[in-house]
Amino acid sequence: MRKPLIAGNWKMNTNRADAVALAKGVAAGAGELDGVDLLVCPPAVYLSVVGEALAGSAVALGAQNAYFEDNGAYTGETSMAMLADIGAEYVILGHSERRHVLGETDSDVSKKARKALELGIAPIVCVGELLEEREAGRTGEVIKSQFVGSLDGVTEADIPSVVIAYEPVWAIGTGKVATPEQAEEVHADLRRLLAERYTGEIAGAVRILYGGSMKPGNAAELLSQPNVDGGLIGGASLKADDFLAIAKAG
Ligand code: PGA
Repeated sequence: MRKPLIAGNWKMNTNRADAVALAKGVAAGAGELDGVDLLVCPPAVYLSVVGEALAGSAVALGAQNAYFEDNGAYTGETSMAMLADIGAEYVILGHSERRHVLGETDSDVSKKARKALELGIAPIVCVGELLEEREAGRTGEVIKSQFVGSLDGVTEADIPSVVIAYEPVWAIGTGKVATPEQAEEVHADLRRLLAERYTGEIAGAVRILYGGSMKPGNAAELLSQPNVDGGLIGGASLKADDFLAIAKAG
C-alpha cells in the first residue's frame, strides 16, 4: 500500500534561525509518527543548515525547484547534482507559483523531472487548474495536459519514484480548500491517467498528494479519501505543531 507523505513547502519564508528551529521542531515530533513519511522543503539557501538540523531524524529534506542542466553558465540556478550533494531526496517541480508567476512550462518540468530521477532525487510534480478553468468545466482537460506534458519521457522504471501533487490554484494560500469530493475526483482521474500511460500496478503504487489550504482542521477528511496519499502543505507547514497535527491526521 501507499505510505502517506506529508510535505512542507516553506516557499520563500523563514530566515536561517527560524528555518533551523522549525526543522528541529518537526524532527522532535516525528518520532511519534509511524506509517507516514515526513518531508520539509526549505528555501534553497537554507537546505544545508536544515539538513544538519534534521540529521538522525526520520524527516526527509527536499528543495522547491532546481534546474535541468548539470552545471555551467546558468546564473542563479541550482543543479539537481547540487541538491543530491547536500542530501536532498525530493524536489518540488512545476508548483503553480513557478508556472504562473515565473513562467515555467510543462516542458521545463519534464526536463527537470528526468534530470532529478537520473540523480536519484524524487520529483514532486505539481498540477492544478485555475479558478476560471474549473468554472469553465475544463479541470479534467487541464490536469491531463499538465500530466502528459510534465511527465514527458518519464519511463515505467522511473515513475514509481515520482510523487504527483494536485494543487488547485484557487485553493493555494487562499483559505479556500477543495472539498474532499473535489480532491478525490481529480486524484482518481490522475490515477486513471497513470494506469493508461503505465500499468495498473504502477498506478496503484504512485503517491498523489493534495495541496491547497490544507490545515489541521480539514486534513483528516481530505486524507481519508481513497486516492489522496498525503499533502503538500504551504502556510500550515510554517508551524511545527500544525504540520505535525496534519501528519497525525494522515
Ligand atoms: P497552502 O500552499 O497550503 O498555503 O495553500 C500549498 C502549496 O502551495 O504547496
